[in-house]
Amino acid sequence: MASRFNGKVALVVGGANADEDHLLGFAGLSALEIARDGGKVVIADIDDEAGQRSVKKMQDSGLFAEFVHMEVTSESDWNNAVAKTLGFFGKLDIMIMAAGIPDRGETIDSAEVEKWQRVMDVTNMGMFLGTRSVVKPMKKNRGGSIVLISSMMARVVRDQANAYATSRAGMTHFARSAAVQYGRYGIRVNTVLPGWTLTPFTASAFDDEWSERLAKRVPLGRVADASDIAGPILFLASDEAKYVTGSELLADGGVTGWIGPME
Ligand SMILES: NC(=O)c1ccc[n+]([C@@H]2O[C@H](COP(=O)([O-])OP(=O)(O)OC[C@H]3O[C@@H](n4cnc5c(N)ncnc54)[C@H](O)[C@@H]3O)[C@@H](O)[C@H]2O)c1
Repeated sequence: MASRFNGKVALVVGGANADEDHLLGFAGLSALEIARDGGKVVIADIDDEAGQRSVKKMQDSGLFAEFVHMEVTSESDWNNAVAKTLGFFGKLDIMIMAAGIPDRGETIDSAEVEKWQRVMDVTNMGMFLGTRSVVKPMKKNRGGSIVLISSMMARVVRDQANAYATSRAGMTHFARSAAVQYGRYGIRVNTVLPGWTLTPFTASAFDDEWSERLAKRVPLGRVADASDIAGPILFLASDEAKYVTGSELLADGGVTGWIGPME
């Protein structure tokens, strides 16, 4: 296949886990694949240790990659990351926003207000600040692709994790809104809705027993790994999806379409 990312510059937020000697995150793997395909990548994350380790390995193997510290709820951190990206590589074509935090085991009446707010802020304030900071250089560039990582939880809910599901549903609607506002500038905005995926985000919960139990609820018969989700992310980031905007790409192995086993 011809190179999809040669000459492209991507800011990958929440992509610190891009070191193949450790468990990969899907944004991290997406960053690695873009750089391997001839692109230039800035990884931004709150996890400096993982981000710097990943970027050093990429640089040591001759890839174009840099790391910038980022707290996604800080507008000045977003502005700094965008300015640094332009300083390193001169333009910005792609932004992938995957920063997120879990919200397990809480019902609406048991949730702590500050924890509920933090989940909403990281996801929803993060996507808002991120989109508004990257559209400026993308407008100048006459185009760009923004990929927001939502979740299958945008479509279904659990008996708990209300903030997580609410914030993920917010992302898909926000992406439609941004797609409408920036389509005239050639900027596309889409969401990926991953299902259960073994990454650093889920590693503490997804032991072998739990993964097997989850797999029984997946029509494809297994939980995903980072590569299962990086594929859809890279498709939307690339010009292969040049007429796709405001869309949701569900990558859940079929979970949300299934009413469950009839037993
Ligand atoms: N793994 C799954 O099963 C799954 C399913 C659906 C959606 N998601 C979502 O996908 C995204 C990517 O997760 P992943 O599974 O690849 O794991 P991951 O742990 O590699 O990625 C999440 C990254 O977000 C970073 N982060 C957290 N809070 C931040 C903040 N305030 N500012 C900046 N960075 C911050 C973390 O340091 C981490 O590097 C997350 O938003 C997650 O909620 C994951």
